[in-house]
Amino acid sequence: MNLEQLLTQWNDLIPTLQALNVAYLGVTTGIFETLHTQGKLSIESLEEKTGIESEYLKRFCMAAYAFDFLDKTETLYSLAPMGQLFVDENTKQKTLPAVFQSVFYPLMTSQILKFAKTGAHLHTFPPFEDPGVFPWMWAMMEHKFSSLFLNEVLPKIPFIEEIDRQRGVVVDIGCGNGWLLRNLAKRFTKLKGIGIDVSREGVEQAQSLSAGQKERLQFIFADFFACSLPPKVSLFIFSRTLHHLWTEKSRLVEKLAAHLESDSKVLVWEPLWPEKLDYLKQEKMKPIAFQNLHENVEGNRLLEANEIEGFLKACGLSVQKFLLENGLDAIFIGTKD
Ligand SMILES: C[S@@+](CC[C@H](N)C(=O)[O-])C[C@H]1O[C@@H](n2cnc3c(N)ncnc32)[C@H](O)[C@@H]1O
Repeated sequence: MNLEQLLTQWNDLIPTLQALNVAYLGVTTGIFETLHTQGKLSIESLEEKTGIESEYLKRFCMAAYAFDFLDKTETLYSLAPMGQLFVDENTKQKTLPAVFQSVFYPLMTSQILKFAKTGAHLHTFPPFEDPGVFPWMWAMMEHKFSSLFLNEVLPKIPFIEEIDRQRGVVVDIGCGNGWLLRNLAKRFTKLKGIGIDVSREGVEQAQSLSAGQKERLQFIFADFFACSLPPKVSLFIFSRTLHHLWTEKSRLVEKLAAHLESDSKVLVWEPLWPEKLDYLKQEKMKPIAFQNLHENVEGNRLLEANEIEGFLKACGLSVQKFLLENGLDAIFIGTKD
């Protein structure tokens, strides 16, 4: 590709990014949802229902109209078919991750720049400081990974049915907003779930989103190392969390090994760092290189498959590994026998 073609390609991306940013505002201000439930509205009614100041609202509506998210009839705005994609239950799981990522990645990039000279780290998740943006990161994780969990991970852990029959306990370490346990509790009606996370925002969101499942799901704001566990845990889950705990691997092996019963299982779900650097050149692997770059903001790095297998073996477990279809992630199942 020559320079002209390269510049055309890059410049063509900018309106797409701008469209995603406008959609992000439509989702996070509640404007899309309000128009979805209320139909056509004037700027005055939209201001009253969303609490967005009128000048910002007017400019947003004009931009959303320009990017085909809103329609306008005389003085009334309504959601256009493209805007509908972000509120419709059937499509939002697919559309929201792109919208959130268009805003999160620049925020992460600014954190990298902030810490690059001093080598400092930010020991919180999400890896940016704006509390107005926090909750959307959890929503992004939920929308991005729920269907992968239900369609690809669940079929690889058939033992979950036996855990359910026995009303076993599943502990989700670094549970975030609890999406994984909520999905599990919806699909299996008897098992119990305990989610643990050091993020207060994540746990608060998990508690409010699982308010109707209180007798089966518990979410605890705590550091896993300081948290006491029930006497018998059937399954420990580390969903994209092991690399967050890797600097304390020895303590983790100690704690986990001490709580594993003869029939306990451990599920580790991680994006995989490749064995060879040139694998990163593959199109599907580029996001892994970017993730590993911004993981450093939190003092983390992505792990290779053999490191994860070694960790599970050190806990006294035999290991099965499955690659997921996105080509980036793998799950590892540790079994005591
Ligand atoms: C990448 S997020 C994954 C969240 C969730 N499991 C998911 O799959 O969406 C990693 C999570 O691990 C949590 N975490 C990191 N260290 C922890 C610790 N020592 N104890 C409990 N949670 C921890 C972070 O707060 C964060 O919510």
